[in-house]
Amino acid sequence: MKKVRWCIIGAGGIADRRSIPGMLLDPHNEIVAVMDAVPTVAQAVAEKYGFPNYFSNAEEMLKTVPCDAVYIATPVFCHYEQAMLALKYGCNVFMEKPITLSAKEGKKLLDAFKKADKQLMIGYMMGYHNLHVKARNLIQSGGLGDVNLFKLQFTCWYPDIPGAWRQTRAYSGGGAIMDLAVHCMELFTSITGEDFQKCTAYFTTKTFNYEVEDSAVITFKSEKGILGHIDVNFNVPDNAATGKMEIYGTAGSIITEGTLSQEEAGKMKYIYSPQGDYEAQQQRVTGKAMTYYGKGGNMYTKQFAAFNKLILSGKRDYTNAERALRIQELCDHMYKHNQY
Ligand SMILES: NC(=O)c1ccc[n+]([C@@H]2O[C@H](COP(=O)([O-])OP(=O)(O)OC[C@H]3O[C@@H](n4cnc5c(N)ncnc54)[C@H](O)[C@@H]3O)[C@@H](O)[C@H]2O)c1
Repeated sequence: MKKVRWCIIGAGGIADRRSIPGMLLDPHNEIVAVMDAVPTVAQAVAEKYGFPNYFSNAEEMLKTVPCDAVYIATPVFCHYEQAMLALKYGCNVFMEKPITLSAKEGKKLLDAFKKADKQLMIGYMMGYHNLHVKARNLIQSGGLGDVNLFKLQFTCWYPDIPGAWRQTRAYSGGGAIMDLAVHCMELFTSITGEDFQKCTAYFTTKTFNYEVEDSAVITFKSEKGILGHIDVNFNVPDNAATGKMEIYGTAGSIITEGTLSQEEAGKMKYIYSPQGDYEAQQQRVTGKAMTYYGKGGNMYTKQFAAFNKLILSGKRDYTNAERALRIQELCDHMYKHNQY
């Protein structure tokens, strides 16, 4: 079996929590080395999974251990330089979201990968959730008629933690927008196939004391006129989160709950109920709802499988990276021009 040999940069956070366990479910992934800036973390992760090599210096790892691809799961301010370093060693790169601190960096990065004919993909895994795939298929087959309204909500509890990179603008690029809204923006685009024409945000730091926003509401219009909004908060308790997506069209609606998450969980209610005439009596009868459930698959396994398919076939597809760059352009715009 052909395998993709992986080196990992930034082994201790989401890599250890979700991505490595997801990768190990697919025998096409072979993890040949891990690196973390904290040497004890690199060693602990290598020992936990039985990986043959660990490092605390990324260049030393790439010089020493031959690989096909590098998975980068470090704080956002590291992304650009580490992806360029991997490219210098001839590697394809799968990197965590958001692409980079700014669209300017993201564009330079993507141009460099295209020029070198190496694959770059960004870790927006939520599009692989079986219910989000179902929503995409329903919309594309006309199951909602014309989509008119699209709402997404993604929250977590993220209190003040001294020294946390996500709470420092220079390291994260921003707060709830850079961390959570980017997932929602990617989902909107991947489900509808439409780009944003305009995004406008209100954002503020209401509950905590860090410098990045803990609350944001984005309103948007898509290129074909879908209106919508994205609500993201760092100040809603985890147990009160809904992780919701609502889509309304001229022939029905889709409402998911608990699907914006790191697990393929939650449920989706779909109503197909086209209506001809105006109902003057306003005696509403709710259309028949179909309910579907998260299948408990692993979105991380699926995102790496999509990447591996390209690497093993020698094909390139920059759709995902271009979308990640577009999202970054919109984030830059909102941070620069909208109310804080
Ligand atoms: N897709 C998802 O589900 C998901 C979830 C969480 C985080 N993320 C993304 O993953 C990235 C990392 O976030 P996290 O939550 O894992 O952060 P984290 O701080 O929990 O973990 C980052 C790891 O990188 C290491 N590190 C820091 N600087 C480094 C450097 N210069 N070189 C090598 N290692 C370094 C740290 O020691 C730590 O082990 C971010 O881009 C974040 O947005 C994605």
